[in-house]
Amino acid sequence: MYFDTPPLLTDAQFAQLAKIIHADSGIVLTEAKRGLLMARLNRRLRTLGLSDYAGYCAFLDGPGGADERRQILSAVTTNVTAFFREAHHFDVLTKKVLPGLIDIARKGGRVRLWSAACSSGEEAYSIAMTVHEAFPEAARHDFLILATDIDPQMVARAEAGIYSENSMNGLGDRQREAFFVRSGDTYEVRENLRAIMRFAELNLHQDWPFTGKFDAVFCRNVVIYFDEKARQRLWQRLAQQITPGGHLFIGHSERLDGPASAAFQLAGPTHYTRKHLARHD
Ligand SMILES: C[S@@+](CC[C@H](N)C(=O)[O-])C[C@H]1O[C@@H](n2cnc3c(N)ncnc32)[C@H](O)[C@@H]1O
Repeated sequence: MYFDTPPLLTDAQFAQLAKIIHADSGIVLTEAKRGLLMARLNRRLRTLGLSDYAGYCAFLDGPGGADERRQILSAVTTNVTAFFREAHHFDVLTKKVLPGLIDIARKGGRVRLWSAACSSGEEAYSIAMTVHEAFPEAARHDFLILATDIDPQMVARAEAGIYSENSMNGLGDRQREAFFVRSGDTYEVRENLRAIMRFAELNLHQDWPFTGKFDAVFCRNVVIYFDEKARQRLWQRLAQQITPGGHLFIGHSERLDGPASAAFQLAGPTHYTRKHLARHD
């Protein structure tokens, strides 16, 4: 279906969609995002053969509503990312985090790292490249990197691990050669990285399925989209989910604040370690 004039989103419909998005993801949709929401959802309306937002809001309330709510999240999330974005975190990983974890793994221990809003995967593969460079035999130990995102389309792209020449900018020739196979204009991640990675859809705002803790969590450039309450709740849950002495990396414009900050020690710019708090661990 093509629209002569794009369907209009009324104030009430915008408020209804913003409420759904906030309840599902913790993401706050400000008035400034209204144009973006409409541009992206107009495509959804066309795909669904709907001519206006009244029909779309009714559809959300109907039997196909749950799946469609996930599609809305894809429409509103910002997926900007890059290999080795905020490169200082990967230096810290190499110099301060991995030596201890490699020791644990070599002694038969379990090591888990988490890219908690992985977008199209560049962050998680940057972690994996850093791990592989420091510990090429990681795959022979209980050493895994989990990459998750709320957006199923992003998780699928991350798992596919196929990148354009443009996205490869942050990588030198040696890394391209060691970790990717070139095929025409694209680069596909090699098995040496895949072997230490797992991918899953996970909404940080809903229940988490984990049975064990993480030694390091990259939760970068995602809480900026959350309101205060959702952010505080996430910090609290990360404090529970990170092993004492473990690491939390957040985005350059983010700050760990509120009650959960008592559980962490600032270790460097946007890098925190989980304190050993005897009564709460
Ligand atoms: C700007 S990207 C950040 C990617 C990467 N962490 C980085 O720093 O380059 C933000 C990602 O957060 C994801 N996201 C937004 N809300 C989320 C939620 N409630 N749970 C999990 N992921 C979420 C989006 O789908 C998007 O891929």
